[in-house]
Amino acid sequence: MAEQKPVKIMETVLRDAHQSLIATRMPTEMMLPIVEKMDKVGYHAVECWGGATFDASLRFLKEDPWDRLRKLRDGFKNTKLQMLFRGQNILGYRPYADDVVDSFVEKSIANGIDIIRIFDCLNDLRNLQEAVNATNKVKKQEGRGHAQVALSYTLGDAYTMEYWMDMAKKIEEMGADSICIKDMAGLLVPYKASEMIAAMKSVTKLPIQLHTHYTSGVASMTYMKAVEAGVDVIDCAISPFAMGTSQPATEVMVETFKGTPYDTGYDQNILAEIADYFRPYRDECLASGLLNPKVMGVDIKTLLYQVPGGMLSNMVSQLKEQNAEDKYYDVLKEIPQVRKDLGEPPLVTPSSQIVGTQAVFNVLMGERYKMATKETKAVLRGEYGQTVKPMSQEVIDKVIPGEERITCRPADLLENEMDKLESEMKEWKQQDEDVLSYALFPQVATDFFKYRQAQQEKVDMGVADTKNAAYPV
Ligand code: CO
Repeated sequence: MAEQKPVKIMETVLRDAHQSLIATRMPTEMMLPIVEKMDKVGYHAVECWGGATFDASLRFLKEDPWDRLRKLRDGFKNTKLQMLFRGQNILGYRPYADDVVDSFVEKSIANGIDIIRIFDCLNDLRNLQEAVNATNKVKKQEGRGHAQVALSYTLGDAYTMEYWMDMAKKIEEMGADSICIKDMAGLLVPYKASEMIAAMKSVTKLPIQLHTHYTSGVASMTYMKAVEAGVDVIDCAISPFAMGTSQPATEVMVETFKGTPYDTGYDQNILAEIADYFRPYRDECLASGLLNPKVMGVDIKTLLYQVPGGMLSNMVSQLKEQNAEDKYYDVLKEIPQVRKDLGEPPLVTPSSQIVGTQAVFNVLMGERYKMATKETKAVLRGEYGQTVKPMSQEVIDKVIPGEERITCRPADLLENEMDKLESEMKEWKQQDEDVLSYALFPQVATDFFKYRQAQQEKVDMGVADTKNAAYPV
């Protein structure tokens, strides 16, 4: 009999699946009733936290994301919880000083996270080192915590098999516990996946996890080839929230490997009950328009232009605003050029928006870099970190003539900032974690703190009323 090598599954329904399909709007009260059942599956982990879930909780759902995490932790007695972490940007949109990164990692683990998946939009590992170190420090002290480094998958001249192998070696050397290949756009095709997993496995002992999206229609085939090539974990979503811009369906992958050396051993009956729980909610989301049937299909443009779907829709709306929709194909042609000028970065938030917007500017102005965005300038100055290939000297000279460029790790230039952040928001602080919510989303968090206080005062008044009310004996 062949050697058993069960593949493990990370379930994404509580994070990426609802982020990809329903704009991250699933509330905590929708999650909690099914936690006990999900805890019985034996998942490798359940992903439940990240930048968009944090932001949407505070902004739209008026929920404390820390409170959600604690409630999920209480419910998941046997299952590891995983989060997504944007390197030095944590869950926000700007680089933070190391003391904020340290504190966020510590509090995330203290409130219930086990595995932290850390990525950087340029794959500059220096932007990930502090978060990895902080996780390892907590792990040493508390015995909990796992640092997973995610490589943003992309295509281009710089991204050879040697590049991915070299990165895998470096990730092992930097002290990470595992590697993730994070294919945001669904660009990784099946046979490329087997080649890549085999190549990376030949240079590292670290477990490898594969994350992709169904956007381009190849995802389940890609998983199959990756599993055959030895990938350890695949990211899937329970069927009502699978496919389209989300992940392959959990039950389908479980069934695919049944009776093979990769058999997950998961019970389809339990998975069916979980799917039954989420199906009416999916129908509700379809009826309300929160789930748009458009995102459920195959978007082949992604493969043709090697550009993430979200970036294309951004571009279309920018062109619409300028009444220049006829320039669509010119911009599509301009994107690879801008990407080359900027050192060929992966196209993931925020680099995808930076490259896309600059390409639109270049086409509309009729001259390259006649106008450069603030973000393009920052990339050229090195403020986001180092790109895989050198940036165009000609473009640097044109856009930021004579300016000094950063070659060190960008966060080395940042002073510690926790004290300052705390002093700015201390009137709202009810728990240490509030300082971190404020650090990430100052305005949104402050609005939430005001809302929270109003709710608490109302509740207090309610209690007082009850006390004063006449009570018939
Ligand atoms: Co994703």
